[in-house]
Amino acid sequence: MPTPLGRSGVCAFKVLAASLFGKLAGGSAAFARTAAGVMSLCKDRAGALRREEATRLARERDTMRSELIAVLSHEMRTPLASIKGYVTALLREDVKWDEKTQREFLEIIDRETDTLTQVITEILDASALEAGGLELNKEPILLPKLVQKVVDEISRHTRDHRLLVCFPADFPVVVADRLRIEQVMRNLLDNAVKYSDGGLVVTRGEVGENEVIVSVADQGVGIKPEQLNRLFERFYRIKNEGRKSVVGTGLGLPIARDIVEKHGGRIWAESQVGKGTTFFFTLPLTPPATAAEEV
Ligand SMILES: Nc1ncnc2c1ncn2[C@@H]1O[C@H](COP(=O)(O)OP(=O)(O)OP(=O)(O)O)[C@@H](O)[C@H]1O
Ligand SMILES: [Mg+2]
Repeated sequence: MPTPLGRSGVCAFKVLAASLFGKLAGGSAAFARTAAGVMSLCKDRAGALRREEATRLARERDTMRSELIAVLSHEMRTPLASIKGYVTALLREDVKWDEKTQREFLEIIDRETDTLTQVITEILDASALEAGGLELNKEPILLPKLVQKVVDEISRHTRDHRLLVCFPADFPVVVADRLRIEQVMRNLLDNAVKYSDGGLVVTRGEVGENEVIVSVADQGVGIKPEQLNRLFERFYRIKNEGRKSVVGTGLGLPIARDIVEKHGGRIWAESQVGKGTTFFFTLPLTPPATAAEEV
């Protein structure tokens, strides 16, 4: 069984035990010397463990930094290049664009600017969460209303999907951070639309015993079982062969998981390749008295 001191720590204690039995009779000076030796052995071992841990953390930070740079360079340059291209086109004095084309260009610029903002927000959120800095501002919220608002936002960006919302009429009030739950919903709905060519996206609310369950189901590309376990890892993105690559940092789901777990809930996905994916998350139901105190 592993021990906090490791193998050399265990040896040190064996030596100490042996000295206690064998050397007590031999005089306290000899015992003190042995004990001091054992203590310094333990200290060396603890120092080595601390150094190993520091090296591991530094290595992890390096990997995170290079992944971040890769994401920044790709995910920010792509929308920036597109914005620059359309603005330059609109500014050309030798071409007269008709009104419809001008509007189309402006819509693309608007969408790409939103993408850039999202990438930056996610990177900032991920580093705040890394530093343990996510503070929740809890208040009683009406989830069906919140969901409808985000669905309306996402619907504006797609003509190929139909987004439906299905909540029971007596859905209870939940105590949660409105903006953070909106962020979770935005990422799940954005993914549902991004990773499917069209079809239905259904957001459902259910009431469990001590929790509410929200699910977002799409009819998209689906996810293989071995990839499902990795979805919530930072920067993890699935390359779907034959599909146009879409902009993203691979931070949306890990951030969503951190937010949901911070509320005391769970988040997971179920999927069938070629048929679609459903994401679920739960939020605990707080008894009215405790809810009032929390708020
Ligand atoms: N509904 C879905 N259907 C199929 N694949 C999905 C779905 N949702 C997520 N994925 C896969 O999981 C990966 C991680 O998702 P996540 O939301 O964390 O990042 P992203 O969407 O790539 O980037 P971002 O959220 O920053 O825009 C995605 O790249 C995609 O491959
Ligand atoms: Mg996403």
